[in-house]
Amino acid sequence: MKDNFENEMKLEFISKASNEAFARIAVAAFVSGLDPNIEELADIKTAVSEAVTNCIIHGYEDKQGIVKIVGKIKQNEVILEISDTGKGIENVDMAKEPLYTTKPNLERSGMGFTIMESFMDEVKVESVVDLGTKVTMSKKIKPKIDENEEFQLIAKD
Ligand SMILES: Nc1ncnc2c1ncn2[C@@H]1O[C@H](COP(=O)(O)OP(=O)(O)O)[C@@H](O)[C@H]1O
Ligand SMILES: [Mg+2]
Repeated sequence: MKDNFENEMKLEFISKASNEAFARIAVAAFVSGLDPNIEELADIKTAVSEAVTNCIIHGYEDKQGIVKIVGKIKQNEVILEISDTGKGIENVDMAKEPLYTTKPNLERSGMGFTIMESFMDEVKVESVVDLGTKVTMSKKIKPKIDENEEFQLIAKD
């Protein structure tokens, strides 16, 4: 059975460094329907930025390719799949270790996956060498009580 999502989007762009900002802002706009607070939005933008940067600098290196983002919203949860069809990762467990980087010369900190894991609720990394990498991450946005409802709750006491 097909999952019922309240909203879905697909985004594809070429692996130019300047598109990292575009991706982060586009995802922020997509998520805004869930009414995230500033912190939740900053967490999602940072995680997207790390995943997209990885596609651009590790997945495609000096070549150009397509970075794809699929976004889904289900109840109060956002699910994001960020993928490339680049070089892939040989050992995903090792790549996810804090401080592990294959590009120390490019001022990479090796903290990308660690940041995604700390800012999102769940992060899954699937990768096949020479075929590409897909990062699926999700985060639940806390429901907000609007002022009107809050007043009604107080008035009931
Ligand atoms: N999309 C990707 N394609 C190929 N390799 C990747 C990809 N994402 C991550 N990696 C590999 O995993 C390592 C760790 O990634 P990350 O934690 O973001 O650290 P950093 O980007 O600073 O190196 C990278 O150095 C790279 O070897
Ligand atoms: Mg990184």
